[in-house]
Amino acid sequence: MRVRIFDTTLRDGEQSPGVSLAPEQKLTIAKKLDELGVDAIEAGFPLVSDGERKAIKMIISENLSAEICGLTRANKKDIDAAIDVGLKYIHTFIATSDIHLQYKLKLSRDEVLAKAIEAVEYGKSHGLQVEFSAEDATRSDREFLKKVFGEVAKAGADRIDIPDTVGYSTPQYMAEITKDAIEVTKLPVSVHCHNDFGLAVANAISGIQAGAQCAHVTINGIGERAGNASLEEFVMSLQCLQFGEKYETGIKTELLYDTSRFVSKLIGMPVQPNKAIVGENAFGHESGIHTHGVLSNPLTYEPISPELVGRSRWLQVGKHAGIHGMNAMLGEYGLQPDKEQANQILDKVKNLGDQGKHVTEVELLAIASEVMKERGLKRIVQLTGFSVSTGIGTMPYAFVKLNIDGKEFSATDHGVGPVDASLNAIQKITGKISEVRIKDYGLASISGGSNALCEVTIKVEDAQGNNASAKSVGEDIVTTSVQAVIEGLNRIMLKKLLKEKKVGN
Ligand code: KIV
Ligand code: ZN
Repeated sequence: MRVRIFDTTLRDGEQSPGVSLAPEQKLTIAKKLDELGVDAIEAGFPLVSDGERKAIKMIISENLSAEICGLTRANKKDIDAAIDVGLKYIHTFIATSDIHLQYKLKLSRDEVLAKAIEAVEYGKSHGLQVEFSAEDATRSDREFLKKVFGEVAKAGADRIDIPDTVGYSTPQYMAEITKDAIEVTKLPVSVHCHNDFGLAVANAISGIQAGAQCAHVTINGIGERAGNASLEEFVMSLQCLQFGEKYETGIKTELLYDTSRFVSKLIGMPVQPNKAIVGENAFGHESGIHTHGVLSNPLTYEPISPELVGRSRWLQVGKHAGIHGMNAMLGEYGLQPDKEQANQILDKVKNLGDQGKHVTEVELLAIASEVMKERGLKRIVQLTGFSVSTGIGTMPYAFVKLNIDGKEFSATDHGVGPVDASLNAIQKITGKISEVRIKDYGLASISGGSNALCEVTIKVEDAQGNNASAKSVGEDIVTTSVQAVIEGLNRIMLKKLLKEKKVGN
């Protein structure tokens, strides 16, 4: 069965505490969602503000493949606002639970029913596609909910949505009321599940198994309070888990990670590391047993291949590390310790782990170089020219010249400070050549005074999700930052080169 993906990142997602997007930002996200392959985009709530109306208009005029929808309460004023911005598809809602009726709407059930019918008829009389939601459906009286759904269907609604507004449903109850809604309306039904008890995706899937054709979801599961059902988790579960029936969506799954990062960065909401599918750790392995397993066959400890969602597997060493995983990590940089050296390196790694220390790739390479008496890794990128200017009243500006594998490249760029300008100029070159971007940048002072030593740690990532970390210590923040980035670039490019050689063999 083909499941419709109704994305509400730009509406319910934007209702996450602290999130607010400018129209241009909403437009870039809408384009990204369209590329990803969602079927419908809830672009916003037209009545909210001028900016919201502008954003919706901009999104509509882009003529995306996805249908564009806007939220309205069940009243003429909201629906008129939707019509005014040019929407042809509305998602109109009114609460049906007694809690909402008594404390929020101060309306009787009959009054709510009348408003619901009136809104649907009004939307239809203006030629709109109308999706009707009974807010707080899962805490509503079941018979009343059926009555409302049945009546709005008679009034001409095109689609029915079942919101689990405060994430209160169980998968079993979601299935039951989905069946009710289908039975009384004979319309396509959507489920809209919130994650207050961590059940949003399970509830949405249960609704689909019970016959719903669509789920309202958001990128990274962002949304009110604990969020909505996450698009990535919902889509990958449908595609990869065992159900009696086969489900499909129009999502290009290999774009999931990129879309997740894009949205997270733009809205300033980090993704928790252990989040399924898109979290940093979702395809990372540390313990010796697991790394050994995935190295002999990834299926041992990975339910799906990371490439399926646009990611790469990564390994880390620490207290639980094993020799196989550690050697594989060193091998990515062309380092092949003999048995005795490998044991020595592993002992040192475990020792650090026992002291509660996080052993990064940087430390592992430093330990390995010391034990193996290596003079350093092969260098592909050399900094051949660098200057930076800064001051009060002028925008910091940097010039960078790099030699990459024998070829010279140069770039200039501005930034909020000299470090930012330098890194921007470097990224201008590397972005073009190998799509490498600086993922994390950390700065710490490791001694006192104005001539204090600083330590810069960075993480770079390529388009395939491969990561490399590097560290540099020095007196000058700008040059130390540049050196750390150059080191990181060397590492990721070396990894890439050795990987390509391996594939070529
Ligand atoms: O969660 C909810 O009830 C909603 C409504 C606006 C449908 O988002
Ligand atoms: Zn919601």
